[in-house]
Amino acid sequence: MKGPTIKEILELKPDGREVIVSGWVRTFRSNRFISLYDGSSAGKLQAVVDFEKTDEDVLKKVNTGTSVRIKGKLVQSQGSGQNQEILVDELTILGECDPEEYPLQPKKHSLEFLREIAHLRFRSTTFGSVFRIRHAISFAIHEYFNNHGFFVMHSPIITGSDAEGAGEMFRVTSFDLNKVPLGTDGKVDDEQDFFGKETNLTVSGQLEAELAAMGLNKVYTFGPTFRAENSNTSRHLAEFWMIEPEVAFADLNDNMNLAEDCLKYVIRYVLNNYPDDIEVLRQRRLEEDKTKKEELRSTDLLDQLKMISEEPFVRITYTEAIDILMNSSHNKKKKFDYIIESWGTDLQSEHERYLVEKHFKKPVILTDYPKDIKAFYMRINDDGKTVRAMDILFPGIGEIVGGSQREERYDKLVSRMESMKIDTKEMWWYLDTRKFGSVPHSGFGLGLERLILFVTGMSNVRDVIPFPRTPKNAEF
Ligand code: 4AD
Ligand code: MG
Repeated sequence: MKGPTIKEILELKPDGREVIVSGWVRTFRSNRFISLYDGSSAGKLQAVVDFEKTDEDVLKKVNTGTSVRIKGKLVQSQGSGQNQEILVDELTILGECDPEEYPLQPKKHSLEFLREIAHLRFRSTTFGSVFRIRHAISFAIHEYFNNHGFFVMHSPIITGSDAEGAGEMFRVTSFDLNKVPLGTDGKVDDEQDFFGKETNLTVSGQLEAELAAMGLNKVYTFGPTFRAENSNTSRHLAEFWMIEPEVAFADLNDNMNLAEDCLKYVIRYVLNNYPDDIEVLRQRRLEEDKTKKEELRSTDLLDQLKMISEEPFVRITYTEAIDILMNSSHNKKKKFDYIIESWGTDLQSEHERYLVEKHFKKPVILTDYPKDIKAFYMRINDDGKTVRAMDILFPGIGEIVGGSQREERYDKLVSRMESMKIDTKEMWWYLDTRKFGSVPHSGFGLGLERLILFVTGMSNVRDVIPFPRTPKNAEF
């Protein structure tokens, strides 16, 4: 039953050969021209119906959304807009679609509306392209790491530790929440819970990746991570996918080189292999931009992707960035929501985007952040104030990668954990790696959805993951 996909058919010579194709109707014009798609690519196939060969009752059922199987001849198209078309010999309705009820019409729908029908949005032109590119990016990432001698490492989803030390975790329990057992101190008795201790969904696979790198040298994780932060922004999800490479014997420079090279590879892969989908999304953004004021319009998607895949990223320290921001007219004229007053403050995404979009007009890697705004595992610099951190900032996105060289010195790590009130006893296994043959090592976390957001030119992370999980939303 399964014939060739439309992607395969569009690569065939239109020499009159017979083909069988299945798909959904995008539009049906003049009771004669069916525009058919099947999800295999951004390509559409035109099928031309012959009234004499097709029953009127069957034709009545051909609506936007109807699924059909067509047997016919593949010929050179007479019309413009396509190379080949199918002259229909046999048209079979597979599934009817009532136009009165079907919410996806061949007109423009808002992305917000499509989010409410996320179970159907795979069928829209935009989301077809977005999700094919999500696949392309995921595949290219695996390919990149495999080509570079990395081993994929599946870090646990359920953990007993808080890798980022931020405490924004989803609790995992098998307790009956109406009858939670309490200890003599009146607190929840975690010992009676499924794992005999408090457990949560992981916020990052980094700590486990570090353990693996201490034996396998170069590893990476690629999995879902969960954060219960109540950030209702276009950049945050409660469930998102992260890629976390970890490399033994590597310093922060090696880490930056790896991240930059990987990002460029992935973008080039998409440009080379999915040009039609990029074109669909480029046109979408151009259309969207028409409704915006001139200064709010974005760069042409294709130009932007080419620029990023070719130009070296800017590398500066946090301290240099603060100088630029403090001296900027934007800061002096109080155009930021958060005015930068002194060294040591955390950067908001408006500051990150100012550096990338206004000042350098290129991706920026910021290094050596103040230790007080970064996680416990980052290697402390000789100044005692900053750590070997790096964040990669992208235009339109802000932070896309966060990473660091890790603190490999046992004593320094313990004292940092103690000063940050992190339980060193609980983390005995992490500290063990610093006791037994410790080595300098580095890694980073790349947010998959933020990268997809950038490559597709979409503007909300909810539109690049099939079923977004955000505060007060876990439909489908
Ligand atoms: O900067 P983050 O929190 O770093 C870590 O988790 C480290 N353990 C990574 C490492 O060194 N192995 O997160 C890394 C990236 C961010 O740069 C961002 O792209 C993405 O993950 N990210 C999110 N994406 C979507 N929704 C959220 N709530 C995100 N939080 C982080
Ligand atoms: Mg970060």
